[in-house]
Amino acid sequence: MPVTLIILAAGQGTRMNSDLPKVLHRIGGAPLLAHALAAGSALGPEKVVVVTGHGGAEVAAAAREADPEVRVVAQAEQLGTAHAVAQALPELQGMTGDALVLYGDTPLIRPETLEALREARARHAVVVLGFEAADPGRYGRLVTAGDRLERIVEFKDATDEERDITLCNSGVLCADAGLLAELVAAVGNDNAAGEYYLTDVIGLAVQRGLSAGVVTCAEAETMGVNTRSELAAAEAAFQARARDEALENGVTLTAPETVFFALDTIVGRDAVIGPNVVFGPGVTIESGAEIRPFTHLEGCHVSRGATVGPFARLRTGAELAEDVHVGNFVEIKNAILDEGVKVGHLTYLGDAEIGERTNIGAGTITCNYDGVFKHRTKIGARVFIGSDTMLVAPVRIGDDAMTATGSVVTADVPEGAMVVARARQEVKPGFATRFFERLRAQKAAKGGK
Ligand code: UD1
Ligand code: CA
Repeated sequence: MPVTLIILAAGQGTRMNSDLPKVLHRIGGAPLLAHALAAGSALGPEKVVVVTGHGGAEVAAAAREADPEVRVVAQAEQLGTAHAVAQALPELQGMTGDALVLYGDTPLIRPETLEALREARARHAVVVLGFEAADPGRYGRLVTAGDRLERIVEFKDATDEERDITLCNSGVLCADAGLLAELVAAVGNDNAAGEYYLTDVIGLAVQRGLSAGVVTCAEAETMGVNTRSELAAAEAAFQARARDEALENGVTLTAPETVFFALDTIVGRDAVIGPNVVFGPGVTIESGAEIRPFTHLEGCHVSRGATVGPFARLRTGAELAEDVHVGNFVEIKNAILDEGVKVGHLTYLGDAEIGERTNIGAGTITCNYDGVFKHRTKIGARVFIGSDTMLVAPVRIGDDAMTATGSVVTADVPEGAMVVARARQEVKPGFATRFFERLRAQKAAKGGK
């Protein structure tokens, strides 16, 4: 059955104490909104509608970055969750199947849970995702009779007895799209908050003789982010889950609690990740690659059999082919390293192409930036770049060539050639002895001071 996602993301998030709209704060390197979108997108929705309000333009841009197909609708005033859904109703017109409502500030819902919610729709016209709260606080309470949900009562409107209920509303809800549109249009704002409550659609459905149900999940999944402290807790929860998933997928993590993943990190089976490795967005590590301790990676691809680190930094556009070795204190940005390339120590490769089995000596730098423009360095296959070579781009080194240690290479080097580009060595016999004798004599003449 087709499904339309509606993601509510209009809230201000006052308690974040931030200039950034709440849903754009990041965990796992991606905005909270992108996490909600990813969970919902796993269901293969026909359409995704994001409701924006505070920071609307920025939120819309982030939503489109996560998914270029999303529809964005604006909620000018935040009059409640039903009012937010009402803004999305024009987008629901003509949509068949289910509508699923998620919050943009609730990043930890698992796709499996959303699947369970959709399956329960076979038995109920409307299904709500609930959880047993350790501390029910100000959550909406689910009033049930057997396995049927009768209504949801908001904390502000609840009696003392209702406040004793520990089964709470996560905010996630699934209903037939057409029905949801009708019910939302019927919601009023005569309540303690003077808001249009989405939760009222349950009572309205039941009044129509329709059945409402509850699917429950672990409280951890429904964690919403309202404060910096909750943001940190959500980050910790995300990382704990990402580490468990990596281990389950056959990745070795020597010290899991010290490895940080991004939402989109992909690590193949039998890859080995050492302690204190940080994955920024956009990293793929293939099976059997090894990432050694204290390595930082983003926007890069590491192939089978490659080893990286310790203390390496792979930046956006670093593309390592099979069996490449990148060692300590090496930074690579926007560079393609073909099979078997070795870059062992203390090197910067930026805007470069390196041919297969080339060896890059310690202290090599591609001087890729002239202060205004970036230029490319192209190094062929089986080249030997001597230690401390400065490659002043744009420059090309042919296959099987070599550079002498300490060279500053400013012009192309043909295939098979050797380039020496440094001052010729001069030796002055006895100079050092005479030099220091003179200085020491001067010091003695001044009384040894
Ligand atoms: C809501 C539920 C409550 C549930 C709780 C779970 C209602 C009436 N109450 O309460 O039962 O236990 O979530 O966290 O639905 N939003 C908009 N536009 C609005 C109002 C809200 O987009 O006009 C968005 C917010 O940005 C947020 C989400 O909807 O992402 C929930 O809004 P919030 O004000 O946090 O709802 P709660 O009062 O916490
Ligand atoms: Ca909330």
